[in-house]
This record gives sequence, C-alpha cells and structure tokens, in this order.
Amino acid sequence: MKKVIVALTGASGSVYFLRLVEILSKKELELHLVASEQGRKVLLYETGMELEEQSKLWSKNAAKVILEDNENLFSPIASGSYRCDAMAVVPCSMSTAAEIATGVTKTLLTRAADVMIKEHRKLVLVPRETPLSPIHLKNMYELSKLGVTILPAMPGFYNHPQTLDDMVNFVAGKVLDSLEIENNCYERWEGKYEN
Ligand SMILES: Cc1cc2nc3c(=O)[nH]c(=O)nc-3n(C[C@H](O)[C@H](O)[C@H](O)COP(=O)(O)O)c2cc1C
Repeated sequence: MKKVIVALTGASGSVYFLRLVEILSKKELELHLVASEQGRKVLLYETGMELEEQSKLWSKNAAKVILEDNENLFSPIASGSYRCDAMAVVPCSMSTAAEIATGVTKTLLTRAADVMIKEHRKLVLVPRETPLSPIHLKNMYELSKLGVTILPAMPGFYNHPQTLDDMVNFVAGKVLDSLEIENNCYERWEGKYEN
C-alpha cells in the first residue's frame, strides 16, 4: 500500500488541504496527516473545522488515516527507514519552507520533509504567499534545486473555472498529479490548433 504524508501549515489556503485529504482518503493508501500548531489555528479560522473531527470522518473512507502529533519525533515518518512514497505540504508557509531549506527540522512535519529530501523521495510544497521576498524566493530556489517540487497555489483560468470549488480542485489536482495519483480533479488542456 502506498504511504503518503500530507502536512498542513499556517499559510492561508487550508481549504486546499481539506480537498486534497478528502480525495486521498477515498483511495487505498496509508495516509499520514501532520499539522503545525499554527496550521490547525488557521484551518479553524478559515473553515471553522477542527482537524481531529475531520480526521475521524476521513477515517471512515478507504484510506488508513493516521493523525500524527507534530511534537512526536518518535513517529515512523521521522525515519528514512519507514518508506513513505511521497509528501505534500499544503499550504506551505514561508516559515516552514525556510525551516526545511535550512535543515533545522525540530518538528515532525519538517523532519518528515527533511527525510523525503535525504531519501530522494517525492516532496511537494504548495506555497501561498504574495508578494514573495528575496528570502522566500531563495529558499524555494534552493529546495527546487534539491528536487523538491514547488507548486504554488495558483489556479489557472484557461479551463474557465465557474466556482471557487473549480479553483480549489485545480490546485488539488495539480498536487495529485505531482504525487502521481490518478485524478480527474480538473479539466486537462487538450490543445487548440486554430486561433
Ligand atoms: C490568518 C493567517 C493567514 C496567514 N497566511 C499566511 C500565508 O498565506 N503565507 C505564509 O507564509 N504565512 C501566513 N501566515 C503566517 C504564518 O501563520 C506564520 O508565519 C507561522 O509562523 C507559520 O507557522 P508554521 O509554518 O509552523 O505553520 C498567516 C497567518 C495567519 C494568522
């Protein structure tokens, strides 16, 4: 069974996390969820949802859902010997991106990301910040040189989104594509030959 980690931080856009986990929870996966303290607070502020309650609902779906404690560095996902296939940080704050970029990883969330990098496994960060400072850009550039996918929460408009849901699905679908997980979250571009 594929093992996937989805992490939540205190950047705006926790709705992307909710959508992504909702979709992943319906698949035959081992799904590890880890959230920073600020991630939980922003989730509550933006959506009115508590991670624990949501997690209980997701647990009723096909995936084996494990809600991790961000302080527990004894968790299996803190070690490279526990072979997780992929990890996404959705949304990823600039603070967490900086922590991962420096390798000073004192929480389970950032340690798990550090492990993905050292083991050359798939790591996707979904930043949500604007404008971006040179510090943010430098950190993301360094991470991207290490093979980390930087996938900004930037919905496209070429597929003519009609609702907010369409825009959220677009970003969730892009993350799933990056994690190599089949999905039909958004309409794919099929080309155009005439002007
Ligand atoms: C409502 C709210 C929205 C925020 N949005 C962002 C954001 O979009 N991007 C970002 O990098 N930080 C954002 N922040 C700041 C982060 O929450 C802050 O840097 C925090 O230290 C991140 O902690 P974490 O990385 O451990 O989750 C926001 C804070 C609040 C209260």
